[in-house]
Amino acid sequence: MSKPRFYVTTAIAYPNGRPHMGHAYEVVTTDVVARFKRLDGFDVRFLTGTDEHGLKIDQAARAAGKPPKAYVDEMVAPFQALDAALGISFDRFIRTTDTDHKALVQALWQRMAANGDLYLGRYEGWYSVRDEAYYDEGELVAGDDGTKLSPQGTPVEWTVEESWFFKLSAYQDRLLALYEAHPEYIQPLSRFNEMRAFVAGGLSDLSVSRTSFTWGIPVPGDERHVMYVWLDALANYLTGAGGLDGEWWPADLHVVGKDVVRFHTVYWPAFLMSAGLPLPKTVFGHGHVLNRGEKMSKSLGNVVDPAAMVERFGVDRLRWFLCREVAFGEDGSYSDDAIVERTNADLANGIGNLAQRSLSMVAKNLGGVMPVRGEAGESEVRLKEAFMAGSEAYFAAMNALALHKALDALMSMVTAANGYFAENAPWALAKTDVTRMAEVLAATLDATRRIVILTQPFMPSSTAQLLDQLGVSAELRDFSGLNTPVAAGAQLPAPAGVFPRITLDS
Ligand code: MSP
Repeated sequence: MSKPRFYVTTAIAYPNGRPHMGHAYEVVTTDVVARFKRLDGFDVRFLTGTDEHGLKIDQAARAAGKPPKAYVDEMVAPFQALDAALGISFDRFIRTTDTDHKALVQALWQRMAANGDLYLGRYEGWYSVRDEAYYDEGELVAGDDGTKLSPQGTPVEWTVEESWFFKLSAYQDRLLALYEAHPEYIQPLSRFNEMRAFVAGGLSDLSVSRTSFTWGIPVPGDERHVMYVWLDALANYLTGAGGLDGEWWPADLHVVGKDVVRFHTVYWPAFLMSAGLPLPKTVFGHGHVLNRGEKMSKSLGNVVDPAAMVERFGVDRLRWFLCREVAFGEDGSYSDDAIVERTNADLANGIGNLAQRSLSMVAKNLGGVMPVRGEAGESEVRLKEAFMAGSEAYFAAMNALALHKALDALMSMVTAANGYFAENAPWALAKTDVTRMAEVLAATLDATRRIVILTQPFMPSSTAQLLDQLGVSAELRDFSGLNTPVAAGAQLPAPAGVFPRITLDS
């Protein structure tokens, strides 16, 4: 039987600066979803990459004194290095300067044109280079010094030029019907409500080409124009699916930040409808992560290099922290002390302690041989019940993309298992009843095995080490192996601590 498929994407980042924690957050959370789905029996395709055309990149390249292609070739490297450092399991890292992507975008344009949705006109209005977005006068806000700013607080400039337009206004009813029929299209609910209200307020046609610079994909048949960078960028999801009729399309999930939800839930489905293509199933808009609650900015000097954080704390501590501390869908904050405190509590004292105490007792008292389980007594029944509830909550939360709730559920299982161990005090039984001690250790190791299997999407590297120590064979590490305990009599390797406590100056 063939596996069900799951196609998941991140937004593609602008490589006009170094990657920051917001980028790390998005690729980590999406990687957690991709890994979860693989362990759950899906055939997964995971796409991430960089958004390399448009005025913003053109200007940054000029400021750096480099031709734009040479500039992006250089700037993409730290994004790829960050993905490697974070253990991101993508199937393709797409760059919008890739040849197959350019061809796809032009073909998409031609389908939209054939549907009668593109016409030549003149754009007169506001544009934010920072957001690469057009804004209506009514959307602008006043800055401190009275200048006009975009709703995201970025500078806008008055722009007048010949432009191709997309008949977005004609899609208002179809978009509202989409939201009505598929409320799961935009998640979480707060973003759904915001986007529905935006569309219900009326849509203007969208300028989809520019003539005042050349760094973009040429419009087929009118090469004085390059395509609007968001049309180019959104189409990356089709390129990554294998083309206009790609085998992976439609996407099951686009994970994007809250600031780009509008592009993914208004423009993108309208472009796809125009081209006669199926729509993605869900766009999930996550919140922003802020350094000690403050927006990261070069002028505040609080832009943190996520690669340095990986170096300092270890990849799995950072991954764990980002998923545990920040409710997925809401904004969150990070700081060095919060990372130390959180990971010491959950990993050193929680999961690590559970694994190390039981494994080292097996090594010391039983020669590292996996013990035999006994008849379930009252405390084993309680442990089993806690695990059934915990595991059900974990799967429900993961399937609802509530990553933080899945980790609450996992921690409830850790607490139950540590409680079972403390209550049955195998270290005391070592002196009075070795058979019972062995049974308690067997039950604790099996509880640990289940927890570690479920933790894999969040901390792939340290869970692999723990599963080695627990004697779990490679083919029993996915969720189909959850109910298969390690056979009694198996020789376990020598245990070694995986989550030592850390301090602020470590
Ligand atoms: N290039 C566009 C996306 C095109 S997708 C077809 C873009 N790039 S970006 O580099 O500015 O942002 C990339 C992703 O990171 C976006 O989903 C954005 O919301 C997200 N984040 C940017 N800053 C962030 C935080 N501070 N926190 C979390 N995510 C953040 O937008």
